Amino acid sequence: MSSNHTLLLTILVFFLGSIFCNVSPAFGSKTHADSWIPVKNLNGPKLVKIGKFAVGEHNNKANSNLMFDKVVKAEIHQGYGIEYNLTIVAKGGARNDKPKTYVALVVYDQFMDSSHLVSFKGPIYV
Ligand SMILES: *[C@@H]1O[C@H](CO)[C@@H](O)[C@H](O)[C@H]1NC(C)=O
Repeated sequence: MSSNHTLLLTILVFFLGSIFCNVSPAFGSKTHADSWIPVKNLNGPKLVKIGKFAVGEHNNKANSNLMFDKVVKAEIHQGYGIEYNLTIVAKGGARNDKPKTYVALVVYDQFMDSSHLVSFKGPIYV
């Protein structure tokens, strides 16, 4: 499948997903605070894959060369896809660069098995 088709299908899935959520009170009535679920296992392969994706995608967009180190905090939220709010430690490319902390928001689309980087902020100081 070409990437254009993938993009169109992704948009379609998101669109249908948002309609579904709007007509379904079970999905729409939760508040922001209680709808984010903390992830306990920060070394799980799936989570690490999403973390590496976020750093790689940020590098592509920002023309930077951060290297993923680890995920130090993660929360997920089931919306039109699975939203991942990850606090990530990454290092710059230079030998003496210190690890810094970033916050990335990724949406993973289960149907398409594809991820999308929504935002990548930082470094933040914790
Ligand atoms: C994501 O997590 C960070 C760090 O805990 C927090 O500051 C931020 O508000 C969260 N973002 C969202 C969209 O919940």
